[in-house]
Amino acid sequence: MRDAAIGEVLVQPDELARRVRELGAEISRDYAGKEPVIIGVLKGAVFFIADLMREMDMHCVVDFMAVSSYGSSTSTSGVVRILKDLDMSIEGRDVLVVEDIVDSGLTLQYLLRTLWARDPASVEVCALLTKPDRRRVELDLKYIGFEIPDRFVIGYGLDVDERYRNLPYVAHYTGTDVD
Ligand code: IMP
Ligand code: MG
Repeated sequence: MRDAAIGEVLVQPDELARRVRELGAEISRDYAGKEPVIIGVLKGAVFFIADLMREMDMHCVVDFMAVSSYGSSTSTSGVVRILKDLDMSIEGRDVLVVEDIVDSGLTLQYLLRTLWARDPASVEVCALLTKPDRRRVELDLKYIGFEIPDRFVIGYGLDVDERYRNLPYVAHYTGTDVD
């Protein structure tokens, strides 16, 4: 795609595939004999979760949640609204939340509180990307794809106003409409 706002590629498609394979193997080992509920956070995690689940060598089920944070499209206020809840119960289940990116961590913190309130057996997080320098709350992320510097990124699910999710790589965004 030709677009001047697509900057330097940070993670190439083959690096994404290799890391997703490693994470899938690790998760398969850790959840051997269990049947976790994989929870995808719409919409950014859809691409990652589809690839990741195909690297999981075990029974698992998938469900989705959609949340929206009050605030601008690119920075989080920490106040989160559930737009679409899970279809299934997670009571007594092992839950693995799959996120595209953890930035301030506020969205995820809210989500984890909400999930724990439903009495699951366990809740862990798998994030493709994390920006440790931006973190505002302490979170235990069990599985991390890549730690990246504090720059806005697009592709492989990550958007700016819904665009760029379909890029097969993760790139810096050099456009202007990001604070
Ligand atoms: P947090 O609550 O600050 O951790 O925000 C997490 C959400 O902000 C992610 O699920 C993304 O939707 C969005 N986000 C944060 N950083 C980026 C980025 O670099 N590119 C695209 N979306 C981002
Ligand atoms: Mg977004």
